[in-house]
Amino acid sequence: RPEGADTLVVFGITGDLARKMTLRALYRLEARGLLDCRVIGVAADDLTTADFVAQARERVAATGQRVDDDTFRRFAARVTYLHGDVTDAALYTRLSAEIGPGHRTLHYLEMPPRLFGPIVERLGAAGLVEHARVAVEKPFGKDLASARALNARLHAVLREDQLLRVDHFLGKEPVIELEYLRFANRALAGLWDRDSVSAVQITMAEDFGIEGRGSFYDPVGALRDVVQNHLLQVLAAVTMDPPADAGADSLRDRKAEVLKAVRAADPRRSVRGQYTGYRDTPGVAAGSDTETYIALRLEIDNWKWIDVPFFLRAGKNLPVRDTEVRLILRRAPRLAFLPTPHQAEPNQIVLRIDPDPGVCLQLVAQGEQTWRPLHLDASFVRDLGEPPEPYERLLHGALTGDHSLFTREDGVEEAWRIVQPLLDDPAPLLPYAPGTWGPAEAADLVTGHPPWHDPWTAGSGAPAG
Ligand code: BG6
Repeated sequence: RPEGADTLVVFGITGDLARKMTLRALYRLEARGLLDCRVIGVAADDLTTADFVAQARERVAATGQRVDDDTFRRFAARVTYLHGDVTDAALYTRLSAEIGPGHRTLHYLEMPPRLFGPIVERLGAAGLVEHARVAVEKPFGKDLASARALNARLHAVLREDQLLRVDHFLGKEPVIELEYLRFANRALAGLWDRDSVSAVQITMAEDFGIEGRGSFYDPVGALRDVVQNHLLQVLAAVTMDPPADAGADSLRDRKAEVLKAVRAADPRRSVRGQYTGYRDTPGVAAGSDTETYIALRLEIDNWKWIDVPFFLRAGKNLPVRDTEVRLILRRAPRLAFLPTPHQAEPNQIVLRIDPDPGVCLQLVAQGEQTWRPLHLDASFVRDLGEPPEPYERLLHGALTGDHSLFTREDGVEEAWRIVQPLLDDPAPLLPYAPGTWGPAEAADLVTGHPPWHDPWTAGSGAPAG
């Protein structure tokens, strides 16, 4: 096991991510007795450590987290605030003096990606990377070429085993659980391939728009924002072969291997949409043709999955907030003694990622008159207890050097290769009304296969919508 860091440096500690996620996660780790390092916060705001600590307390509370005095005092005692310009070499001299010799540091860059290279180079020049790891937030590149260039630039200073690329979906309990569930249960493992699965639908629906994030979102769009990273990571977790051992690289080998087998996306098998009203959002360019919805079909050219279509869709301002993976199984054979079920829906295995993570198995029963769906529904929170939050898990993993929670260079580049044709030759942009399931044309994508299924809502006894 790699050695744990004894010093955490957060670049951009007064920014949006720290406000919403990092400070809360650090506080929660402190409360669980899992924070075991100094915390040095770096940002451009001219604050003293005392100012920053007071601000941090308010910010943790503003996320809805109850703040306990003793816990916060323990956390505050770890914190030093350093004010400076991250492009100025003098900051790194001060940082080096602050850290002192002989420490194992985690540098967490919560900064715009254009600053990853410059910061890492300055850390290197100041001798601050020798016993250090560096975590970077997404987006990691904006296409295959820029991702490769960024990897090369970071590798001029850091080895791959010093780099942690954050994709917060890898910190989500159901995504981690999937890796276990699939292989620990014969009842699932036996159904988990082309012999039993006829199609897979992966949906990431959000019932809000991009208000307040226009200037971040407009140059990015749905494909880069959530498909290239989050949904392809989920796809890899759904389809990879079992890792050879418990090491992070065995897991990441398997993910990279299956991503390598995914055929590059075909723009003619994709649908792009934009909700009406998007262009009036502050920060969005006039006449912007950025997509806020995308649906696509992918194919995996390997023994296990060939000819099984993977339909992915993600959108803002859809009717519900719900992320799920739905495996649609092949129909049972039609037999004379089963008069009704042949028109029934095929069996489905649903992994619910958000909200209320869980697994649901949809069977069919005969009912009085005609077939009826029957749902076996397990909620992870109800049955397994409240898990750590994604950023809590990711920060702890980054501090202890658990690379299995982070993406590796080859996996990231494969994911860009898969989506690159959709960036080079995007499908026409179609409008959709907020609160609907995106452009009607998305239905054509699944022709010949079961239609898009409304996401499963836990405990409802019936599909949503
Ligand atoms: C982020 C995207 O990475 O993930 C956002 O930038 C999206 O646009 C968010 O809303 C969704 O994350 P979660 O954890 O709320 O599903």
